Amino acid sequence: MTTAVIADLGRRAQSMLDALAALSDEDGRITRLYLSPAHRRAADLVARWMGAAGMAVSEDALGTVRGHLPPAVPGPLANRRYLVGSHIDTVVDAGRYDGTLGVVAAILAVEEIRARGLKLPFGLDVLAFGDEEGVRFPTTLASSSAVAGVFKQADLDGARDSAGVSLREALVGFGGDPDRVAAAAYAPESVLGYLEVHIEQGPVLEIEGRPLGVVTSIAGQSRYMVTVTGEAGHAGTVPMTMRRDALAASAEMMLAVEAVARAGRADQMVATVGRLSLDPGAVNVIPARVSFTVDLRAETDPPRAAAADAIKQRFREIAEARNVAFLMDRYHDTPTTPASPRIQAAFARAVEDLGLPVRRLTSGAGHDGHAMHALCDIGMLFVRCRAGISHNPNEFADATDMGLAVEALIRALTALADGQGEV
Ligand code: GLV
Ligand code: MN
Ligand code: MN
Repeated sequence: MTTAVIADLGRRAQSMLDALAALSDEDGRITRLYLSPAHRRAADLVARWMGAAGMAVSEDALGTVRGHLPPAVPGPLANRRYLVGSHIDTVVDAGRYDGTLGVVAAILAVEEIRARGLKLPFGLDVLAFGDEEGVRFPTTLASSSAVAGVFKQADLDGARDSAGVSLREALVGFGGDPDRVAAAAYAPESVLGYLEVHIEQGPVLEIEGRPLGVVTSIAGQSRYMVTVTGEAGHAGTVPMTMRRDALAASAEMMLAVEAVARAGRADQMVATVGRLSLDPGAVNVIPARVSFTVDLRAETDPPRAAAADAIKQRFREIAEARNVAFLMDRYHDTPTTPASPRIQAAFARAVEDLGLPVRRLTSGAGHDGHAMHALCDIGMLFVRCRAGISHNPNEFADATDMGLAVEALIRALTALADGQGEV
């Protein structure tokens, strides 16, 4: 493989990523939340690219854009397919690589497979999911869950964004048909596996000077909505000892969350309070009610469960001492998800083929593979990014590394076709 081919793939990836980055709901920064106008435009652009790459394009009830490439040769796998993709939604003020790189890499891989006349014995579906970040609705992975057949129907009316719009209403506005959710699910027997290319979002590959990494597992995560209720009062007259201040109690709770995660660092535990709102929110009123999120992750499941118990126990103590009430509602919970040895082997083979060392690593970030694991084997290829920065506009991946990732994806699919990914 000449370096010119890799460079060309990298350039094409970068220009597609730049085109997607221009589609934002906010001026001057990239914000593309699930089912927003910018998501609509991104889905349309991705659909055009898929069509131009020779795929049959459709969009399912949850807004996942799908491009299908039929098998090129008859045989026992002709009725089955590999799924390849990632997500096109973003966090608020995002970078331009998280998720989008996996979609762009999959489309480029299909273009190349056709251009090179590679004859795969199975079908390929490229998937561009819409709800990986879980920023707009308290759902997270709704679109990949529908594809995997594990979407919770209750979320259609139960999940609402901060403006009160239900998931059902937003889907209708996007052009989806919420009554056709069941049809979005693949039959498990028709699917051979799910492959995803993604930036690492951490510093390991860069520190070790390796462009690509093979993912062994995706860390489990739990997300909670915590509501703390005290009592509003006059900031000038209620003595400090008589207050039921929901914000002061929440502040102590947030520090408890941080302390529990720090104590679990041997288990790669991390916990984040990323969103907070308070009521009534006036300079001269003691806060009556606070809601905040907790995102809790660890490399394996038992320490995460133990940390959740420890956090709840600390919340009870703080609430009692401060005479406030609290509710801790777990709205998302995904166990640590293993990558299949078979798909890991195919990616490892592809990386070696490119003359690169194989570095295996776990993913601390969440991915659509969490949901897809309910349907099929999953595997991921990580691409080195600068300084481990992600969920930040300074996110950066080198075009040559992205070209290598596209080439490795093509070779992994070829290895799976040859049975070389079998272990
Ligand atoms: C997704 O990016 C997540 O890990 O929160
Ligand atoms: Mn992502
Ligand atoms: Mn992300």
